[in-house]
Amino acid sequence: METSVLTAAFERHFGAAPALLLRAPGRINLIGEHTDYNDGLVLPAAIDKEIRFAMRLNGTDRIRLAALDLDDTYEVAVADIAPIPGGHWANYQLGVVAGLLRHGAEVPGFDCAFGGNVPNGAGLSSSAAVECGVAWGLSELLKLNLDRMTLAHIAQKAEHEYAKVMCGLMDQFASLFGRGGHVVELDCRSLEYGYFPFNTDDCRVVLCNSGVKHALGDSEYNTRREECAKGVAILQKANPAITSLRDATLPEIEAAAAEMGEVVARRCRYVVEENQRVRDFTAALGAGRSLAEVGELLYASHAGLRDDYEVSCKELDVLVELSRQAPGCYGARMMGGGFGGCTLNLVATNDVKAFLTHMKEGYQRELGLKLDTYVTTLADGVGELLNED
Ligand code: GLA
Repeated sequence: METSVLTAAFERHFGAAPALLLRAPGRINLIGEHTDYNDGLVLPAAIDKEIRFAMRLNGTDRIRLAALDLDDTYEVAVADIAPIPGGHWANYQLGVVAGLLRHGAEVPGFDCAFGGNVPNGAGLSSSAAVECGVAWGLSELLKLNLDRMTLAHIAQKAEHEYAKVMCGLMDQFASLFGRGGHVVELDCRSLEYGYFPFNTDDCRVVLCNSGVKHALGDSEYNTRREECAKGVAILQKANPAITSLRDATLPEIEAAAAEMGEVVARRCRYVVEENQRVRDFTAALGAGRSLAEVGELLYASHAGLRDDYEVSCKELDVLVELSRQAPGCYGARMMGGGFGGCTLNLVATNDVKAFLTHMKEGYQRELGLKLDTYVTTLADGVGELLNED
């Protein structure tokens, strides 16, 4: 959405010019899935799919929101905000306001119009982009000077309390901390992070959107979190130093497997192995090892998500299998929470076109489904938009 279109829509809705224009990107994650809420390691990046916002303080006590893509509006007094049942889109903004209030900020009435091109339900974290955009925008308008990590935590809490998904920090972190041309490794325990350049001359990150979003996704996500907590409680009996799966080793899990039961043991094993794959991945990047080697880690991650963590689905599995015969593909896996959304594929830059053709034909042939694909560019995190952008 061009800024001129955004500004015009804002003026139509609220009868005044916006005071601030900003953008907040969606994210990919190269590897480290379902590790963030286990104090583990992740390797996300912000991408060139983003939500754009026009905002101003409106001098009243009311929040007025306009979701331009949905052609819908919502209005509420700041003092009356509460989670709206039924998965309402305004929950993400209201949850952020609740978080800022709890943080001690005084939030007056404001106007916000927003829209963008992060596809919904594709696992690219459009909801985190909305949360992070509003959090950063309000921090700017109110001169709160909140650092980005604090904003990420406020945005994450909005997801917990207003959207009822007990997510980790990865999506919000990526939207706020992304850097053009780089992926960023986050240690979700220490909150230390570091950037790795990603050279698109050699290879591109290509997303294949399964086009499905299974309704069970959110509840199964919360269940996985509980299963991991159950595993930790059992591991702790033998070794009180274990406070999360980050501390556990595979032999410790084997020793506790009988008490955990088969399912919880598998969940725990997956998380420990996936953390190791993130370490192996960044080590390989650092050492300049072959893309084929790095790609194998993606296939191994997918196998774990499918068989041990059980968050994949038929459509995602078909896409990963198709990628194995696809021209130029080094590796692929499902990405994000699972139960639908996209697969992430590492594809040789020169072969991207042939790869896309192979995948589209295959998805049509195997499942009779049309495949949307995105060849991503890694982008900067949340920031101000200039009028000409
Ligand atoms: C969702 C959550 C993230 C993370 C991923 C899985 O995107 O919002 O916090 O847990 O799933 O890695």
